[in-house]
Amino acid sequence: MNNNAIVFSTIILLVIATAACDPPQTEGGDKTSQQQAAEVDEDGPAGIDDGGITSVSDDPGLIEEGEGLFASQGCVGCHAMDRDSAGPSLGGVTERRSTPWLAKMIMNPHEMVAQDPQAAAMSENFPAPMLENNLTPEQTKAIIAYLGAQ
Ligand code: HEC
Repeated sequence: MNNNAIVFSTIILLVIATAACDPPQTEGGDKTSQQQAAEVDEDGPAGIDDGGITSVSDDPGLIEEGEGLFASQGCVGCHAMDRDSAGPSLGGVTERRSTPWLAKMIMNPHEMVAQDPQAAAMSENFPAPMLENNLTPEQTKAIIAYLGAQ
């Protein structure tokens, strides 16, 4: 055999060996998404303050207060419940996100976009970032109660 023939048959052998060792496509895909899910913390980075808010209240008084804050704090200027506008649609957001994640996002949006992979990915769809609000944890809890009622 000349050199070309050796190189050629080595390549053929490698191709056969690689094909034989490859796991089926779907199995490989599942594994990858499971690994990614494990790496992303659904509550957001531990170092960002969540105001101690762990659950969505269904207290009617708090929901009403949240509705007022949603308007008076300017959220309504960038967020609708049924479509994206300057910010993402917030309909059903309390089911898509964990409560501590939402509290962090509402109280510390810039830190979240800088440090949380999900917030960072979302911000790529919007030309301008969310504004900081200086909301207290009590106000944030009321706004989350309102969002939970949508
Ligand atoms: C200037 C426009 C603007 C204002 C005002 C604003 N937001 Fe946002 N909001 C955004 C944008 C843009 C994002 C996407 C993240 C980013 O790019 O900063 C976002 C993201 C969010 C998210 C995450 C949504 C999801 O799908 O996970 C929540 C919750 C939220 N905002 C709530 C609020 C609340 C509550 C207020 C009022 C206190 C508010 N926002 C005020 C623009 C705004």
